[in-house]
Amino acid sequence: MSLLTIVHYPDPVLLAIGKPVGDDEFGPALEATVLDMFETMEKAGGVGLAAPQVGISKRLFVMDTPNDDGTNERHVLINPEIISVEGEQTGDEGCLSFPGLYQVVKREMRVIARARDINGDEFELDVADLAARCILHETDHCDGIVFLDRMSPLKRQLAKRKIKALQKTGKWN
Ligand code: NI
Repeated sequence: MSLLTIVHYPDPVLLAIGKPVGDDEFGPALEATVLDMFETMEKAGGVGLAAPQVGISKRLFVMDTPNDDGTNERHVLINPEIISVEGEQTGDEGCLSFPGLYQVVKREMRVIARARDINGDEFELDVADLAARCILHETDHCDGIVFLDRMSPLKRQLAKRKIKALQKTGKWN
């Protein structure tokens, strides 16, 4: 396994629509990439990481969100689709491609997503709270959408100013 380099906003790969993972791409190479993505995410202290964030313009992401009982839910979602959403939650959100930036983002409270697993088998996930927020955030990455795009105009202006300040400190690149 090896650590991958996380790209930071505004790298163009973050703003591009990822290509679907093809049937012929399932196998050892994809498995290795997914393991590297888990390792990279854990090292960076994130709960989700999408392929575009490591410079791979493909539709897949890994997530590892904590449950209330202290256990974790580790998933890889390949070619994810949001099937249905319900409710609303408002809370702080961060992104490994926006180091040091946390901003309030409104998201749906519950999500049903469909995806393929590492073996290519289709499955569905029905989740709420942080896991729902994570799935929505990471599926956005597959569509070239970053959390900045999900903020209110006022919050986005504030966030852009914070990004400029963070870039000046040299911690951003
Ligand atoms: Ni992100």
